[in-house]
This record gives sequence, structure tokens and C-alpha cells, in this order.
Amino acid sequence: YRNILLAILCSCCLWRSYGRTVETDSRPNFVLIMADDLGIGDIGCYGNDTIRTPNIDKLAKEGVKLTQHIAAAPLCTPSRAAFMTGRYPVRSGMDSSSRVRVLLWTGGSGGLPPNETTFAKVLQNEGYATGIIGKWHLGVSCEVRNDHCHHPLNHGFDYFYGLPFTNAMDCKPGEESFIMVDVQANLRLVSQMIAVAVVTLTVGKLTDLVFISWKVVACLAVFGFLFFASWYLCFGFLRYWNCFVMRNHEVVQQPLMLEMLPHKLLEQAVQYIERNKQIPFLLFFSLLHVHTPLFTRTKFIGKSKHGQYGDNVEELDWMVGEIVDVVENLGLANKTLIYFVSDHGGHVEDCQVGGWNGIYRGGKGMGGWEGGIRVPGVLRWPGVFPAGREIDKPTSLMDIYPTLITLAGGQVPHDRIIDGRNLMPLIEGKVQQSDHEFMFHYCGIYLHAVRWQPKDSGSIWKAHYLTPVFSPEGAIGCYNKHICPCHEHVTSHDPPLLFDLSKDPSETKRLSPRTEPHFHEILDRIAVAVEEHKKTLSPVPQQFSFSNILWKPWLQPCCGIFPFCWCDKESNGVRNS
Ligand SMILES: *[C@@H]1O[C@H](CO)[C@@H](O)[C@H](O)[C@H]1NC(C)=O
Ligand SMILES: *[C@@H]1O[C@H](CO)[C@@H](O)[C@H](O)[C@H]1NC(C)=O
Ligand SMILES: *[C@@H]1O[C@H](CO)[C@@H](O)[C@H](O)[C@H]1NC(C)=O
Repeated sequence: YRNILLAILCSCCLWRSYGRTVETDSRPNFVLIMADDLGIGDIGCYGNDTIRTPNIDKLAKEGVKLTQHIAAAPLCTPSRAAFMTGRYPVRSGMDSSSRVRVLLWTGGSGGLPPNETTFAKVLQNEGYATGIIGKWHLGVSCEVRNDHCHHPLNHGFDYFYGLPFTNAMDCKPGEESFIMVDVQANLRLVSQMIAVAVVTLTVGKLTDLVFISWKVVACLAVFGFLFFASWYLCFGFLRYWNCFVMRNHEVVQQPLMLEMLPHKLLEQAVQYIERNKQIPFLLFFSLLHVHTPLFTRTKFIGKSKHGQYGDNVEELDWMVGEIVDVVENLGLANKTLIYFVSDHGGHVEDCQVGGWNGIYRGGKGMGGWEGGIRVPGVLRWPGVFPAGREIDKPTSLMDIYPTLITLAGGQVPHDRIIDGRNLMPLIEGKVQQSDHEFMFHYCGIYLHAVRWQPKDSGSIWKAHYLTPVFSPEGAIGCYNKHICPCHEHVTSHDPPLLFDLSKDPSETKRLSPRTEPHFHEILDRIAVAVEEHKKTLSPVPQQFSFSNILWKPWLQPCCGIFPFCWCDKESNGVRNS
């Protein structure tokens, strides 16, 4: 009997594992490529006829091109938080009420809360290999150095190589800082003023013109030194504090060498695919392109028609091509869903080096105007997705969340609200409209605009409650502030500005009760939707609170003994090629 029982048990096991392999085989790999700050108007297949992006164009030709693909926020940190979790960033506390709207320090305590479930985590539980190469910008630690509560490896990734922060001006020697610029200026000013006072008083006392005690002068000098020291410790080493490379939990290059990074990241991405070709994998290739400071290999410099910025876009396209080639050469093309996207619109205020948002108004930092949130979105999966299909219905970057999880055979979490929608019915042509009847366009925690796609109607209405005040007047952007604020320097509209995006995607023809007979009905319906949406929000810990965004020396990731953080385990003579 025993033997028979064993035999039955064994065959059950075999059958189960056999079933598992078959099931595993049919699940696709996912290669997600995210550009940073890239405008929708920078890409050939989205209408740019002077920048050459043949590789992205080819993906679109062989796959599906989304033309109304919307980021949940117009800045890196909140947009990426929404992308990873499928939820509006206000739900996870990852959007801000103040002027600071992205994480500023790797030594801050804010970041993607550990109890958020990223798609990587679900896929990892489904047996996927999950790697992230490139930029993270969703926090590092909470309470002590190296607790890594916000780190990619604590959010479902099994491999991380890249920047816990972002490419920023501070990472390039000789460029100006972008972090708390006014705080820095004030600290410097105060310490300079104190220094002048101390010198004057000393001279005055030595020449008997001033009658105060040496004690007072000494006190002032100590005070001035403390000011100077705090500025110097916080900001003098920004390149060390923020610009470094990690492999998994280890800091491997601090500060980073910008000139070797594009090469290194590409190499890492290629190796990740090769290492995992046998099992289903997720690779999130989160590029530093085309965020400033631009760094482009010599091979691409001066090759585009649009200066430094165009060169960088063309290099980005080349990198996309390299990744697609690897997938194809390994024979994985038909088993791999490739997605290309930008985290939000191009940075129009970044003068000569900013992105181009095509016919759309506004750009990075602006939560309401299309230019800040409408981005390129291309999906290719040969043999499964139709080739050359264009979808102009509203879709969101948050849709990737349920789409990936469903395709991987996983369960979308039921204990929380997920704002993304499965894209498959739309891609396969089973439905004509997307599942987003309303979309809420936040700038920080402030609701700036709402988009309404009524059922069974071709119109797409958009109501703006708040819009940034552009400066100088007549410009489209906040050139004197570098980026438009969400709360101060905004105009509130009552009645809201109303546009029909299906006829007026550039948002230039404001509707009125005279030009649109249903004007009031439309606004009333949208107002009801806003009320319903607000009821679904619950208070959560604010990741951008004052204490969370401060630099905390005891959280600073450091290769060496703090504050002497310096190492380079990566370069081995590899330089710009
Ligand atoms: C193509 O992109 C460049 C650089 O961003 C921009 O200056 C140019 O106006 C764009 N061309 C079109 C036709 O959109
Ligand atoms: C991949 O799918 C395409 C489209 O269905 C098909 O033409 C091609 O032969 C497939 N390639 C392989 C290697 O199976
Ligand atoms: C995560 O924890 C916070 C604080 O305890 C809580 O407010 C929030 O609802 C939790 N989020 C989820 C998705 O469970």
C-alpha cells in the first residue's frame, strides 16, 4: 500500500510541477524602459520630423502607440510612486503640500512606504526575476542608516544597480546646485555677514574705536563658524551625499562618474536579460536620459539637429535599440512585452536643454496642463498585441500595474484602492473606450484639473480649477522660478476653465455657456465626480513632511566611515566610449 501511495503522491507532484512549467512558459517577460523628463514632442513617431528616434518609432510600428497616455504627476518622485503602486501618489503620502515636491536627499527619511505593494513585489511572488537598473528616487532608509526600508530591494526587486537618487545638477562638478537653493544662499549670506562683523569688531577693538568685550566677539565668531559649518556639511558635499551608485544594498561608487554611467547602465541591463533568459523576468530600465545635466557619449555629440538636448535624445533612442536587439537575439521577442514611456512632460523652463511637448501646453511641474502629463507610451508584444495600432483614449502610467500583474497570473491587491486599469481589453480591441471615466490631475496634493471621458461620447472634457501663473507674462512656463509651484502663484478658476480635448488638444479654446450648450451640466457632473473621489482618500503619513525631507546625517548612505564617504569599485579604467 505504502508504495502505491508513494507512487500516487509522486505522480501528483510531478504533474503539479509539470503544470507549473507549462503555465510559467506562457507568461511574458516585461522590459519597461522609462525616460526621465522626455517630452512627447521629442519623438519621431509622435510627430517630430527632425530628431531621429528610429528605434522607438519601430517599437510603435510593431506594437501599440498610446497617444493620450497620462502621468499621475508632473514630477519624478510622485509620478514614479504612482507608476510603481498603480495608485495616485496622494494615496501613499508621496505627493507634497509644500514647495519641495521631490525627495531631495538620499539621507532623508521620506520615501515609498514599505506597506505599499509595487508590481515588482507581486511579480516576485509569482516567481519572476525582478531587476531595476537606473534611477530610483523613491527614498532609501527610514530610521537608521542601511535599514533600507524604501530601497528597491525592499519593494520587490531582487536586483538593483543604479542611483537611489536621480541625475541632478549637483552630480556634475562645476554646475550649480538645485537643492534648497534659497536656504543655501541664506546660510551663506548669514555666515558672510557674521564674518564681516567679526573682522570689523576685531579691527575696531585693536584700534580702540569699539568698546565691547572680547567675549562677545568670540561668541559671534563661534556662531558664524557654526553657520558656515552647517552649510558646508549639508551642501558642500552634495555630490557625495546624493550622487552615487549602488549595487543592491552596497554603495559602489561615491560620487558617481557621470561619463561612464550610460555605458554601465546599458551593460547592466543587457546582462540582466541574459542572466534571466530562462525564466520569466521583469526588467525596469529606468534611464537617466534626458534629465540635466546632459551627458552624452562622444559618438552622439553634435550629431542631432537640436544641440546637446537632441544628441541626448538620439543616444537614448540608440540605447532602446540595443535593449530590443538583445531581446530579439536571445529569441525572446515573442515572449517579451516591451514598454517605453517618459515619467512626465519635458522641462520647458530648462531653456536650451529642455524637452519639447509638441502641440501640448505647459510642461514638467505643471499638474493640469497636458504638456506636463501627456507622455509617449509604446507597448510591443509581437504575436499578441496588434502591430501599428494607435489608441487615442485616455490611459495612465498607473495602468501598467494591473496589466502586468494580470498577465503574470497574479492578483491585484484587494485591500486598497488601485487607480490603474488593465489595458488588455483596449489593446485587444475588445472595448472601444478606456476604463477611465474620470482622471484626476494633481499638482502636489492640490487637484488642478479633471478629465472626463463620458461613456458613449467622443468628447473628452477637461476642467481646470487651478492653473499656474506664468512668468514672464505671455510665456508658457515659470521661467523665473525654474518650475511652476502648485499652491502659490496659481490662479483659481470659478467657473473652472473648460476644454474639449478631443477637438482642442492644445487647450487654447476655452469653452463658455455660449460656445458649449451643456457647459454647466458638464461642470456639475465633474464636480460630483470630484466629491466622490475625495471620499476615497484617507489620511496617510506624509512622506514630504518637514522632518521627512530634511537631511539626516545618520541616514546618509556612505561608502567608508561617515562623513568620509568615498569609493570607486566600478571604474576599472572604463571611461566614456
Ligand atoms: C523636435 O524636437 C526638438 C527638440 O526638442 C524641438 O526643438 C523641435 O521643435 C521638435 N520638432 C517638432 C516638429 O516638433
Ligand atoms: C513571432 O510572432 C510573429 C507574429 O505572430 C511571427 O510572425 C513570428 O514567426 C514569431 N517568431 C517566432 C520566433 O516564433
Ligand atoms: C500603510 O501604513 C500607513 C500608516 O500606518 C497607513 O495609514 C496606510 O493606510 C497603510 N497603507 C496601506 C496600503 O495599507
